[in-house]
Amino acid sequence: MAGLLEGKRLLITGIITDQSIAFAAAKLAQEQGAKVVLTGFGRLSLVERIAKRLPEEAPVIELDVTNQEHLDGLADKVREHVDGLDGVLHSIAFAPASCLGGDFLTAPWEDVATAVHVSTFSFKSLAVACLPLMGPGGSIVGLDFDATRAYPVYDWMGVAKAGLESTSRYLARELGPRGIRVNLVAAGPLRTMAAKSIPGFAVFEDTWSKAAPLGWDLYDQAAAGKACCALMSDWFPATTGEIVHVDGGYHAIGGVA
Ligand SMILES: NC(=O)c1ccc[n+]([C@@H]2O[C@H](COP(=O)([O-])OP(=O)(O)OC[C@H]3O[C@@H](n4cnc5c(N)ncnc54)[C@H](O)[C@@H]3O)[C@@H](O)[C@H]2O)c1
Repeated sequence: MAGLLEGKRLLITGIITDQSIAFAAAKLAQEQGAKVVLTGFGRLSLVERIAKRLPEEAPVIELDVTNQEHLDGLADKVREHVDGLDGVLHSIAFAPASCLGGDFLTAPWEDVATAVHVSTFSFKSLAVACLPLMGPGGSIVGLDFDATRAYPVYDWMGVAKAGLESTSRYLARELGPRGIRVNLVAAGPLRTMAAKSIPGFAVFEDTWSKAAPLGWDLYDQAAAGKACCALMSDWFPATTGEIVHVDGGYHAIGGVA
């Protein structure tokens, strides 16, 4: 049987360790037949080393999503490896320390602006940078953390994610007429480098595992990775502007019995 992503050409951002959600997505995508091109931020030699752990080594293009030159040159760099893109995964977030961990009332605008630039606006920037390579049937997927409620310690990253959810709907609106779908995967808490840098993140981890009807594995990045692959496949042809929760069902539940 052919893989779910047989013949698909995917651009996957956001690998920094083999715990990254993007790493799980890239590994699964290759196993399902996709040709994967990666982007890396800053520590390129590290990303290249991690890329060697994939089933098939994937090329790595440098991309800081806040750098307009990088964005402007992205399509040409991707074309050195593939002749177009069927899917793009945005798996990127960052917030300065002041924005996370409980100092919601004191984080300065400059820091909040950085969080929103890297974690929210960049979804639009990446989509626009990849558009010259995409056509009908294309799929753009981003990684979300449910932003319908305010959580302890997540603070301004929660605000950035609320903006990401809205950005995704506006992108779906803009790109739908071109046949391009835009969706988010809202993952539960996972022990990645980004999560470990949030002081007090363990608060979620305990409540999540207890409240999620399916239970929750803090180390199972593959669950979110599978949803990303499914959304980049041909199996969600009429779905856009959607948020698929991969959180053990936590978002649907009102309390712990
Ligand atoms: N880990 C969780 O609990 C969790 C839950 C839900 C959603 N998410 C989301 O998943 C996505 C991936 O995070 P992760 O948990 O795999 O952590 P991670 O630390 O492995 O990945 C975050 C990535 O963002 C990249 N990045 C940061 N600034 C960048 C910039 N300016 N340009 C380009 N790339 C940049 C980093 O290099 C890194 O690869 C993020 O959007 C995150 O918010 C994570």
